[in-house]
Amino acid sequence: MKLKRSLKQKKINMRLSIEKVSKNFTAQHGKVLALDEISIQIKEGEFICFVGPSGCGKTTLLNMVAGLETPTKGVVRQSGEEIKIPSSDRVVIFQEAALFPWLNVIQNVEFGLVRRMNVRKRREISRTFLNLVHLGRFENAYVHQLSGGMKSRVAIARALALNPSILLMDEPFAALDAQTRDILHEEIEEIWFQTKQTIVFVTHNVREAVRLGDRVFVFTARPGRIKKEFQIDLPRPRDTNSESVVLYAKLIQQELREEIEKFLKEEVDRDWSLKKANLLRPAGIDLGSGI
Ligand SMILES: Nc1ncnc2c1ncn2[C@@H]1O[C@H](COP(=O)(O)OP(=O)(O)O)[C@@H](O)[C@H]1O
Ligand SMILES: [Mg+2]
Repeated sequence: MKLKRSLKQKKINMRLSIEKVSKNFTAQHGKVLALDEISIQIKEGEFICFVGPSGCGKTTLLNMVAGLETPTKGVVRQSGEEIKIPSSDRVVIFQEAALFPWLNVIQNVEFGLVRRMNVRKRREISRTFLNLVHLGRFENAYVHQLSGGMKSRVAIARALALNPSILLMDEPFAALDAQTRDILHEEIEEIWFQTKQTIVFVTHNVREAVRLGDRVFVFTARPGRIKKEFQIDLPRPRDTNSESVVLYAKLIQQELREEIEKFLKEEVDRDWSLKKANLLRPAGIDLGSGI
């Protein structure tokens, strides 16, 4: 099968190394230290999740791995080579799926392949990946005819068609309902089994991180540092509602809560923020994307 053949061509030992990476931005009110000396070593084929309060630099870090941003200090390497520019070997999937409404499903998937190969070849590859995300029947549909889950699947197929070694996912399922998200968890895990890609997955949803990750990194409030790393030693596939997943999620949530309170104190009116922080206590696991 095509997919397997293309995988064999991949270089082995595609290690991803984030080495003492800091990032400053110049904002209107002065300099913002977004990330402070982040170091993470990721093995080939690992599924890594990042959780942390809003504004702690998760997207910035993902962008640096993609080569869309450069670190102010430190370096990101793929197989020992410094990442300086974007490459189709590291593809980002965003929350909003970012599909082109004027193209149909298969044209969206083909988009990144346009300059690389002839029409027949790219159609064949796109069909392979559309089938992989179970959208084979919808290749002629337009974006406005698709549900949120289907749009996510198209975005995943489009990314996979580029045959990247590293898939970077920035809160890709945050806007979906819980049932659709559960199905997509199964699908992305199945795809990951088949493709052996390295996945770095950002989420606000702690249970989602435990459901999917080999390791989960908790970030501090800005400036983002690694607060704690959790190795998730649970067999796969995992059930988001199982006792063991909930237990891990609670441990991670405890680490995260402190950071969210810090974020709220800094970002919003103090009285409101304390009230909000108290409200978070019994709520527990899923912080939603607005926090
Ligand atoms: N291009 C930019 N210019 C100025 N500040 C930025 C820029 N990109 C991000 N930031 C700031 O850096 C911090 C981290 O942002 P981001 O990586 O988007 O956080 P997260 O994804 O964890 O919510 C935030 O305070 C944000 O406002
Ligand atoms: Mg973000």
